[in-house]
Amino acid sequence: MKNVPLFATNIFHQEIDPSSYQKEKIVNAIVSNYNKNPSRNNWAFKGSTNLHHYYNDWNNKDYDEVDLSSLIPLYHVFFKNVLSEYSFINPVSYKFTIQNITVGHDKNQSMEYHHHLEESDNSSCFFVSVHYLSIGANSQTLDLKNPIPYADYLISSTNHFTRKYLDSKDPAWSYRRPSWHILPKEDEIIFFPSFLHHSVKPSSKEDKKLRICIATNYHLKII
Ligand SMILES: [Fe+2]
Repeated sequence: MKNVPLFATNIFHQEIDPSSYQKEKIVNAIVSNYNKNPSRNNWAFKGSTNLHHYYNDWNNKDYDEVDLSSLIPLYHVFFKNVLSEYSFINPVSYKFTIQNITVGHDKNQSMEYHHHLEESDNSSCFFVSVHYLSIGANSQTLDLKNPIPYADYLISSTNHFTRKYLDSKDPAWSYRRPSWHILPKEDEIIFFPSFLHHSVKPSSKEDKKLRICIATNYHLKII
């Protein structure tokens, strides 16, 4: 029997080995900057929290530079591995851009549903990744919204059946649910198509550990 993942929205998880790059140096620089000002930048999305993040503020002289050069080669390896899971009928090249680094405690860190828009030139943002350099064991989930319009109909009509009979942990049934929740682990990178709306809900829990994430956009280009 052949199982065909029709209209699949594939999510990839992988550990980035913390001993294979200068993680401590990177985290120390990020935390040092965070301690200078926990609200470095206004969050870009309406209703989301004001937290320390680097979007459009990479060259701010008030903060130490975060040297990601030891990490970038690992992202290349990771992305090439992901691309090997897909077929292409013509050669493509790629580039990726570190979009943001966010730092904060769960209680002060949330973001509304948003997606990463595709660009209008030859290269498009096809994928997004979030790499968790630091996160508590019981941190907030990364929530991914079901992109199928059909899901809205299911929520109002047959949700009872879904709840009562379908295994909520089975991704094969995810098309019948409004969203999918991933509890990220430290050192994990989570990778998904850029059109997928994602969010982190506000938390009422006290947490000691900082949640530090690196968000990256990946673009494919025709050679
Ligand atoms: Fe995002």
